[in-house]
Amino acid sequence: MSFYQILRPAIFKLDAEKAHHAAINFLKFCPKTATLFCLNRHYENLRSKLWDIDFTNPIGMAAGFDKNAEIALTLEKFGFGFVECGTVTPLAQKGNETPRIFRLEEDAAIINRLGFNNLGAEVFAQNVAQISAKMRTPFAINIGKNKDTEDALLDYLPLLEKFYESAAYVTVNISSPNTKNLRDLQNENQLDLFLSEIMKKKNQLQILHKKNTPILLKVAPDLTVEEQEKIAITVLKNQIDGMIISNTTIERDLNLQSAHAKEIGGLSGAPLFAKSNETLKNFYRFTGGKIPLIGVGGIASASDAYEKIKCGASLVQIYSAFIYQGFGLVEKIKKDLSQKIAADGFKNISQAVGTKN
Ligand SMILES: Cc1cc2nc3c(=O)[nH]c(=O)nc-3n(C[C@H](O)[C@H](O)[C@H](O)COP(=O)(O)O)c2cc1C
Repeated sequence: MSFYQILRPAIFKLDAEKAHHAAINFLKFCPKTATLFCLNRHYENLRSKLWDIDFTNPIGMAAGFDKNAEIALTLEKFGFGFVECGTVTPLAQKGNETPRIFRLEEDAAIINRLGFNNLGAEVFAQNVAQISAKMRTPFAINIGKNKDTEDALLDYLPLLEKFYESAAYVTVNISSPNTKNLRDLQNENQLDLFLSEIMKKKNQLQILHKKNTPILLKVAPDLTVEEQEKIAITVLKNQIDGMIISNTTIERDLNLQSAHAKEIGGLSGAPLFAKSNETLKNFYRFTGGKIPLIGVGGIASASDAYEKIKCGASLVQIYSAFIYQGFGLVEKIKKDLSQKIAADGFKNISQAVGTKN
C-alpha cells in the first residue's frame, strides 16, 4: 500500500475542490516532497522525439490540475515526461458556483463544472517566467476563452502571442463542456475560420521568434463520427501540428453507480476510457497518422496507457487516476509500460503507435 493510499480516506473526507487547493499549496510550498517518494527513472524504450521535442517518457500531466502554472516544477519531479498547465484565460475569472467538483468513488471517476476558474494570463505569465528556465521537462500551455467573450479569437490570439515563446506546445482548448457555446467552435464552418486565424498568427510568431511552437487542438469525446471526420479534415487542411483526444464527456449513459452520477459537468476517469479510445482511434484513422495525437481519458494503469498508444496516441495524459492513486502512479506506469513494450518485441514506443488500427 502506498503512502497516498494510506492518506486517501482522510483526503476524501474533504470537499474535492478544497482537497485540490490543499494539494496545490502543499506541493507549492514543499516541492521536495516529490523527490522523497519518486525516483524518476528513465527507460530508453519510452523515449521519443515529436515536433523536434525530446520526451523522456510519454506520460503527461493533463490540463486542469495546475491551472495557474504554480507547481509545474514540482510536478516534473514526479517523473512526468511532460506537463501541461492551464486552461488559462486572458482575464482572471471565478468560474461556476461551488460545489463544482464531485468524486464518483464507485466509478473511479470525477465530474467537474469548474468553468475555467483561473487567475488570468498576467499571473500565469509571471509564474511561467519564474519556472521556464528551470524546467527540464517539456512544459505546455493550454489556452481558453473568458466566459463573456463573444468572439473567441479575441481571446485565443493574444494568449497565443503571450505564451508562444515559453510553451513547448500550445493547446487550443475548444472542448470544455463548462463554458457556454465553447464546443460550437468544433463545428465545421466555425472551426475552419477559427483555425486559419490561429495558424496565421502562428506563422507570424514563428518568424518573429524563430521558433516553431506546435499548436494542438483539444477535442471532446462527444462528437459523431461524421463530425470527427470533418474536424480531422479541417485540422489537416490548416496544418495544425497535433491533437489532444479527449476532454471530459457530457454523456451519462455509462453505467455509473455513484450518487453524484447526475451532476452537471464533464465526466472523467474510468468510465471515459472506452469512449475516448474510440474517438482516438477514429482521429488516428481520419488524420492518417500524419500528425501526433495525445491520448487522454480514463488511464489508470500501464495497460490503459499502452491501449491508448496502440489506438494511435504518441503521448498520453492523466488526471483523474492521480486523485484515486496519487502521483506514485507515474513511475509505476513507466516501469510496467517499458516492460510491456519490450515483451511485445517493440524497440521503442513509437513502433507501437496505432498498431491496433
Ligand atoms: C477537475 C478537472 C478540471 C479540468 N480542467 C481542465 C482544463 O482546465 N482544461 C482542459 O483542457 N481540460 C481540463 N480537464 C480535463 C482533463 O485534462 C482530461 O482531458 C480529462 O480529465 C480526461 O482525463 P482523465 O480521465 O485522466 O481525467 C479537467 C479535468 C478535471 C477532472
